[in-house]
Amino acid sequence: MAITGTPGVGKTTVCRAFRELEFDVVHLNRVAREMGAILEEDEQRQVKVVDVHALRRYVEEWEPESDPAFVESHYAHLMPTDLVVVLRLHPSELERRLKDRGYPPEKIAENLEAEFVGVCYGEAVEVRSEGCLIRPPEDVVQVDVTGLSLAEAADRILEAVNYRRGDDVDWLSDEEAQRTVERYLKYR
Ligand SMILES: Nc1ncnc2c1ncn2[C@@H]1O[C@H](COP(=O)(O)OP(=O)(O)O)[C@@H](O)[C@H]1O
Ligand SMILES: [Mg+2]
Repeated sequence: MAITGTPGVGKTTVCRAFRELEFDVVHLNRVAREMGAILEEDEQRQVKVVDVHALRRYVEEWEPESDPAFVESHYAHLMPTDLVVVLRLHPSELERRLKDRGYPPEKIAENLEAEFVGVCYGEAVEVRSEGCLIRPPEDVVQVDVTGLSLAEAADRILEAVNYRRGDDVDWLSDEEAQRTVERYLKYR
């Protein structure tokens, strides 16, 4: 299972909880660092470009012992998995979390916009239809974690995994989300 979503939605935190529940988890960013699969680092934008092909091979060869098992990252939807779970978070809550992380406004703007339009979800669906993976994900579901505690979010994700059914998310027609994103337009 791929756990993807905009930075700050809570992927790593919920996957740590899954590890405590004895599910196997691959934190792709950690693996990328350990494998030396980081191709370049853009200091100014504070982003790393990872070798997606090398990570795909790693995931393809991975033999997890638990079912389900999870790979986690904001590019996990590019990995060969049976299912993609896209975590979604209301832009207002995402703004608070990214501020807490100390992100500069330009980086908050970039990520808020990505969440607003649903970049990870769009890419996950696109990758699947293009069949550009060794083994494309069979399904893409979204889970709205807004206002959920960690335990509630973990439960909702496991439910989505078990029933292959998630939430409809549309921040584009949510007025508070629009206002939040608009406040950051000057930083784009
Ligand atoms: N369910 C939750 N409720 C409140 N805060 C959360 C929740 N899940 C994660 N967070 C907080 O949000 C921030 C981002 O979480 P993190 O797991 O690092 O996101 P990601 O891995 O998607 O970038 C962290 O400060 C984390 O403590
Ligand atoms: Mg993370």
